[in-house]
Amino acid sequence: MPDPYARPMQTSFEHKPLEQIETGALIVPVFEGKKEERFGAGALFDSGEVAGKPLEMTLLHHPPGIAAERVLLAGAGKPGKFDPAEMRKLAGAALRHLKSKSVKTMALALEAACASPEFAGAAVEGAILGDYEPDRYKTGEDDKKSVDRFVVAAAPESPEVGQAPSPANGPLGAAVARARIVADAQNFARELVNEPANRLTPAKVADAARTMAAESGLECQVLDREQLERLGMGALLGVAQGSAEPPNLIVVGYKPSDVGSPVRLGLVGKGVTFDSGGISIKPSDGMEKMKYDMAGGAAMLGAMRAIARLKPAIAVTAYIPCVENMPGSRAQRPGDIVTAMSGKTVEVINTDAEGRLILADALAYARRQDCTHLVDAATLTGAIVVALGHLNVGLFASDDGMKDRVLRAAKAEGERMWAMPLEDDYKEYLKSAFADLANVGGRWGGAITAAIFLKEFAGDTPWVHLDIAGTAWLDESKPFLAKGPTGVPVRTLVRLAMDWGGTS
Ligand code: BES
Ligand code: ZN
Ligand code: ZN
Repeated sequence: MPDPYARPMQTSFEHKPLEQIETGALIVPVFEGKKEERFGAGALFDSGEVAGKPLEMTLLHHPPGIAAERVLLAGAGKPGKFDPAEMRKLAGAALRHLKSKSVKTMALALEAACASPEFAGAAVEGAILGDYEPDRYKTGEDDKKSVDRFVVAAAPESPEVGQAPSPANGPLGAAVARARIVADAQNFARELVNEPANRLTPAKVADAARTMAAESGLECQVLDREQLERLGMGALLGVAQGSAEPPNLIVVGYKPSDVGSPVRLGLVGKGVTFDSGGISIKPSDGMEKMKYDMAGGAAMLGAMRAIARLKPAIAVTAYIPCVENMPGSRAQRPGDIVTAMSGKTVEVINTDAEGRLILADALAYARRQDCTHLVDAATLTGAIVVALGHLNVGLFASDDGMKDRVLRAAKAEGERMWAMPLEDDYKEYLKSAFADLANVGGRWGGAITAAIFLKEFAGDTPWVHLDIAGTAWLDESKPFLAKGPTGVPVRTLVRLAMDWGGTS
C-alpha cells in the first residue's frame, strides 16, 4: 500500500532582490522577441543561441554580479501568450532540466507581469508535479535524483522592507502554500494510479483512503460485499464476480464548519484496479496499462485530500466503487442480465464495458445519499481517445450551469476539457431486446453511448461526466512531466469545490 505521498522537496516564497538569492540555480523566464541583457545573456540572444522559444533551456555558470551559482534561462515563448498554464510547464521543465544535472536547490524569478498569485502558484505546482517520478519500485539509488529546495522569488515591494509583509508573505506566499497542497494532492493521486494491480487491490485502495481520511480529518466509510448485496448493487457486483478480490464502495466525506450552503457535491470515481476485460478479454498488447483504470477514483481521493486542507464552503463527498475486472470461473458472461440498485435491468453484451456498470450503482447511491450535484471521472472508453486524442478530457453534462462551472475551473487550472454531445436520441443505441438497456452501444460514438448509459443512473441530478481515458496517463514523458499517471483532473475538482461559494 502506498504511503501518503510526501516528497522531501521543500517549497517556499521569498521577497528578495534577485542578485541576493543564494541558490544552486536561478531560473529566469526569457521571452521571444525580448532580449535579456542581464547575466551576460545579451550576446546569446544576438547570436540566436537563445531565442526564448517555449521550454528552451540554457544554463549559464557563475553569472557575474549575483549570488546564485547558475542562471537557467528558461524559454517562455511569446510574452502575450504566457499565462499560468505556461508557467506551470516552464517551472516543471526547468526543475527537471536542473535535476538531471544534479542541481539541488533552485529559485524561480517572478518578475514584472508574472508577479501575481496565479503565476506564483502555478510555478510551485509545476515544480512539484515535475519533480514526481513513478520510480517507487526502482531499487538502484543511482537513478533517483532529488531536489532539496524550490523557491519562488520576487523583488521586495519596497527596497527598505527587505522581508515581506507577514503573515505568510502576503498574497504570493499564500498562493505558494495553496499550490503545495494542490500539487501534493495531485501527486498523491498519481502515486496511487502508478501502483500495480498486485499491490493495489480494491481492499488496498480502501486502506489508502482510510489512512488519507484519518490524516486529513475526513470521514471515511467502506461498504463491503455484503452491504453492497443488501443495497442491491447488482451491476457493480456482477463485474466483481470474476475476481478473487472482494469489491467495495469507498465513501469519503468533507463538511464545511458553516453548514449554510445547500450544495452537496458528489465526486464519483471509477476504481477498477485492473481491467482485463473479463470474459470479453482484452488483447495482451498494452494490457499492463490497465492498472490505471482506477485513475478516476484516485483523482477523487486526491481532490478530497486537498479539499480537507483548503476547506471550501460546500459539502463534498467522494464515492469510489472499487473492483477488479477478471475472467475467473465465476465471472459474468456476455448475455447475463443484472439488476442495478436503481431497479433497472442491464444486458451485459460486453464484459469489458465494466466501468459504466460499477458507476451506475455508485451514481445511484450518491443520489440516494442526497447529493445535489454530481461529477464523475472515469477512464471509461477507448473511443474518447479516438475522438479527442490525449490532449482533452471528454466532458459530458446534463446541466448547462454545471458544465460552465467545470469548464471554467478546468480552464483556470490548465486542464483541457472539451464538451461532447449528450442528446437523448443516442439512447436508441443502447436498446436491448431482453433488458431495459444494453451495456454497449455498437461501433459508433462509443464515448457518447457510454455517457448516455451513465445518464440513465444520474437521473435529474445536475451531473457532469469526465472521460479521462486519454488524459490520465502519459505514454511518453514531457519536458515538464514524467511518463505515467498525470493526476488529471484533481486540480479542476479542487477549484470547482473552492469556487462554488455558499450558494447553489
Ligand atoms: N478501461 C477501458 C477503457 C480504456 C481504454 C481506458 C483505453 C484507457 C485506455 C474500459 O473499461 C473499456 O474497456 N471500454 C471498452 C468499451 C467497449 C467494450 C464498448 C472500450 O473502450 O473498448
Ligand atoms: Zn473495460
Ligand atoms: Zn475499464
